[in-house]
Amino acid sequence: MKDKTFLMIPGPTPVPERVLLEIAKHPMGHRSGEFSKILESVYSDLKHIFQTSNDVLMYTASGTGAMDAAISNLVNPGDKVLSLVIGNFGQRWAKIAAAYGADVEVIEVEAGKAIAPQVLKDRLEKDTNKEIKIVTLTQNETSTGVTNDVKTLVSYIKEHGALSIVDGVTSIGAMECKMDEWGIDVLISGSQKGFMIPPGLSFLAASERAWAVHKECKRPDFYFNWSTNKKSVLENSTAFTPAVNLICGLKVALEMMKEEGLDNIIARHTKIAKALRKALKAINLQLFVEDEAIASTSITSVLPPEGVSVPDIRKVLKNDYDIVVANGQNKLKDKIFRMGTLGFVSERDAITAVGALEATLHKLGHKFELGKGVATLITELNK
Ligand SMILES: Cc1ncc(COP(=O)(O)O)c(C=O)c1O
Repeated sequence: MKDKTFLMIPGPTPVPERVLLEIAKHPMGHRSGEFSKILESVYSDLKHIFQTSNDVLMYTASGTGAMDAAISNLVNPGDKVLSLVIGNFGQRWAKIAAAYGADVEVIEVEAGKAIAPQVLKDRLEKDTNKEIKIVTLTQNETSTGVTNDVKTLVSYIKEHGALSIVDGVTSIGAMECKMDEWGIDVLISGSQKGFMIPPGLSFLAASERAWAVHKECKRPDFYFNWSTNKKSVLENSTAFTPAVNLICGLKVALEMMKEEGLDNIIARHTKIAKALRKALKAINLQLFVEDEAIASTSITSVLPPEGVSVPDIRKVLKNDYDIVVANGQNKLKDKIFRMGTLGFVSERDAITAVGALEATLHKLGHKFELGKGVATLITELNK
């Protein structure tokens, strides 16, 4: 049976029917009063989700657009940027900063690990001349399923005086991320993840300190220029023609998020991901990230069992059960598969996924006690 696809990748994530119906409507004029009211509500709710009193800028672009906007509005050629890399998306910050002429230094750890806060602290303490202007980091590394301790890392960056730029693409709406309380200077995210809408929008908020640095930026981008975009936010407008329908859908998605409450959303993600990890172990699968302290609540990376390939697991899951899980990226391609539990995800989804994964592995000859994954999952969920 087709047309029953369940996206269990780390984005795009499933979209609620309420949101889909909203997006399906005729587009409205982006300079109309009606649309301005929608923007007013969206801009206000985004601040709530970002846990900030700063304005949240919205770009018609994927998450990388907001990453680009973070760097291009702050960095002058020759500025020193320290990039904390725990996977592909941390690496992307370094690439963007280098593209804008920054002098980039990288602290990188092997895939599956997080940045040890002490390593950053030591590096920053050595920077007695305060050459490091910006530190980039990823809260949740989607390529591995590892979460960095952003609260502690940002506290060290603040102590040093550099600006912190944090990628919250697969963390916002899935785990705690308190922009103002933790002192994050720039926080970005994308629509197709915890926000439960299709790809096409990205978001960026900046602290007062970051805005002051932006004012000194010699050649900020045109389309992504913070100042131009902020002026529009203050007028409940957008600088250019935005993805009107996505924004209408976003309004509904943000209302759903408010109805559920941010704490409850985070608790739901935590509960499902923890139960999923236990269930996977119960069917003799090895997790790529074994340390619970750094394991993501939105992405779980799994090693294939002996004698079974990642492409075969993905193929059977898709063809026989219409469930899509993600492959590993780059060096991890075919070495791990990644299960997204992000955004519009429920306990029922986890039960379905573990059941289908058991059926898949059974077909592929993996040895385990059939039903033990689902039983473990249900026991955990019902605790
Ligand atoms: C952590 C993280 N950062 C950045 C991105 C880039 O976002 P996009 O693909 O929307 O440009 C992604 C995409 O998956 C991501 O997971």
